Amino acid sequence: MMNGLDSNGENSTGTKTTFPGFATAAIHAGQDPEQWASHAVTPLICMSTTFKQSAPGELKAGFEYSRGGNPTRKALEECIAAIDGGKYGLAFGSGLAATTAICQMLKTGDSLVCMDDLYGGTNRFFNRILINGGVKIKMVDACNMALVEAAIDSSTKMIWIETPTNPTLKLVDIEAICNVAHRHDIIVVVDNTFASSYFQRPLDFGADIVLHSATKYANGHSDVVMGLISMKRDDLRDRLHFLQYASGGIPSPFDCFLVNRGLKTLHVRMRQHEKNAFAVATALEANPRVTRVTYPGLKSHPQHELAKKQMRGFSGMVTFRIKGELAQAQDFFKYIKVFTLAESLGGFESLAELPAIMTHASVPPEQRKELGIDDTLIRLSVGIEDAEDLVNDLTQALEKAVPASML
Ligand SMILES: Cc1ncc(COP(=O)(O)O)c(C=O)c1O
Repeated sequence: MMNGLDSNGENSTGTKTTFPGFATAAIHAGQDPEQWASHAVTPLICMSTTFKQSAPGELKAGFEYSRGGNPTRKALEECIAAIDGGKYGLAFGSGLAATTAICQMLKTGDSLVCMDDLYGGTNRFFNRILINGGVKIKMVDACNMALVEAAIDSSTKMIWIETPTNPTLKLVDIEAICNVAHRHDIIVVVDNTFASSYFQRPLDFGADIVLHSATKYANGHSDVVMGLISMKRDDLRDRLHFLQYASGGIPSPFDCFLVNRGLKTLHVRMRQHEKNAFAVATALEANPRVTRVTYPGLKSHPQHELAKKQMRGFSGMVTFRIKGELAQAQDFFKYIKVFTLAESLGGFESLAELPAIMTHASVPPEQRKELGIDDTLIRLSVGIEDAEDLVNDLTQALEKAVPASML
């Protein structure tokens, strides 16, 4: 076994890492060459904003105006739906544009119950924009079902969770949340960005909508900003397609082409991200300059059993606390060479960042403190370079940032 995965596609904990037919669906779903007059094997980039009608209101191929539907986008939307185990997919101009469209289903007086640990931009959207339209936001630690149940009342129309969370890598029990929510007719949205479609399928556990910032693993090449959602329910597809069309937060056909292409290698990339993340997390756990490592694949993760239950693998995100304080963290970023100091995640390249000052700066300081997002918490997006080079890079940077006198 190499760093977490053996040749049977099982990880070190014996969890099965593949959904049957995943790679075949990623490569073929929505991609039928017969849909193009040329029978092109890869989807065409259809830049046309409008489509010829046979007679007023008569659409031969189903397309009218590109905001409402576009052939390149359709190929991508069918593909993401298939790999998420859904029936329908919809693409948006960013993860947050998808979040906005989903939240446009809420009305004044409705309430949204959400995990207290969320991507900073989602937190900012909920508490500085959505709230202005009269939607109540209740943030709770959704790892604790009693708190979720206590937050629900007759105004609750949506529960929003992220799992694993950004940046503290907590897990939320998707099935337990859905069981409670569906007793009250509440829609469950799961932000699946950190796990990706390859390692986690929230729809299988009852989630109503799964959301990805496709900017991350789905595209995987750090060159497109996009949001993707999948669902099984016809009514939700109709409402969300209407919102996609009527609010207009759509991606360009060229970006759809790129993300559709990214999905073709998602399974290969995710396996390598996971192998490398295991190698990095294990090395950091043994490093005296690190006080705590968080990775759902480690037995030391407090929710490792839940990770094994609902994930097919543990993805490529690792966080750790550097010994010392802000000065040591700042120095660490000066010395890394293979890892790049940058926001975002999920691309082939390894990135490191300081959430308190970067991705989660928009979270109010007192909330950051409660969540444990302090100045020594470093988030790594482990890429698919050689694992040895990644481990060596972190080790040398830690040695320079934390002097032996501090050990
Ligand atoms: C977990 C998560 N959800 C949503 C988003 C928002 O996605 P985007 O940046 O594509 O708008 C991000 C962005 O970092 C994220 O990390």
